[in-house]
Amino acid sequence: MKTYKLALVGFGNVGQGFVQALQQKEETLAAQFGVAFKIVAINDMKMGSVYRPGGFLLDELLKAAATGDLSDLPAEANDWTVKQMIEGAGADALVEVSFTDLQSGEPAASFIRQALERGMHVVTTNKGPIALFYPELHELALGHGCMIGYEGTVMSGTPALALGQELLAAAGVQRLQGILNGTTNFILSKMDGGGSYQQALIEAQQLGYAEADPAGDVEGFDAAGKVVILANVLMGANIRMADVDRQGITKLTQADIQQAQSEGKRWKLIGTVERVNGVVKASVRPVKIALGHPLASVGGATNAITYSTELLGDVTLVGPGAGRLETGYALLNDLIAIHRKLG
Ligand code: HSE
Repeated sequence: MKTYKLALVGFGNVGQGFVQALQQKEETLAAQFGVAFKIVAINDMKMGSVYRPGGFLLDELLKAAATGDLSDLPAEANDWTVKQMIEGAGADALVEVSFTDLQSGEPAASFIRQALERGMHVVTTNKGPIALFYPELHELALGHGCMIGYEGTVMSGTPALALGQELLAAAGVQRLQGILNGTTNFILSKMDGGGSYQQALIEAQQLGYAEADPAGDVEGFDAAGKVVILANVLMGANIRMADVDRQGITKLTQADIQQAQSEGKRWKLIGTVERVNGVVKASVRPVKIALGHPLASVGGATNAITYSTELLGDVTLVGPGAGRLETGYALLNDLIAIHRKLG
């Protein structure tokens, strides 16, 4: 049995979802892959910082998180900064799930660099650092003999990146078209059924799909971050957020929705990455899709990507794109992938 010690940065929804996924799958992971994970340190901006070299029980962590405060947990240290935790916890991997900033990538990008430079593996669902610095972070990991996993940055635990990177690697992906943001797809689905934009947005917020500032969703920034990741990871591009031709859904009216219906079509916020004359182009914009297209029937907060390949034609992947457990699972799967490759 190989045991990996983990340090977590961030213990909000996704961090707790990760612990829940681990709790549910602990026994299976040990039996199936001969692997165990021990959380030895957590640092959360709001809940505080704890380090216990022998590891925490998953149940006690979830109970403490429910109170919003980790400080009552018996710990050897409870005043470490993230830097101190990365340097002092003796963890094999950093689980980086602090907040996302698509403009600077910070503070997550610095945490990830610090960990990789020490030869620690990193798994993250944080779009900021991967959208902004993927080529650099990938090289940094390679140079230090460790790995960085980021599957949950696109379509949460649905294996959108692994499918493109591994299983379709030889098929020649020329174009990707996807519904990459759950909040906007949820709003458009509600509007398609006659509901109002405002009411649907409030519901998406209540259901926990929307970003802290929903402008990130409805103006297309969240989807643009995912498009950059898909372009750079799957198509070898090196594009930036500013290279994405981006438009959100805020200008769509009920009249537009009805017009599309009368044409046998449906509005979707579509992220596209494609090679045009050898150059990778990326966009996020509302598109009227014919009802027969596989993406047209993807409703609610569900996400989907159609990979257009040279050898297989179109392959469409449909699955959850957000959610606590769904995103937490992505981290677990990245850790298992690291174990299977290097363990
Ligand atoms: N706000 C995002 C969405 C969460 O609605 O898809 C997942 O990145």
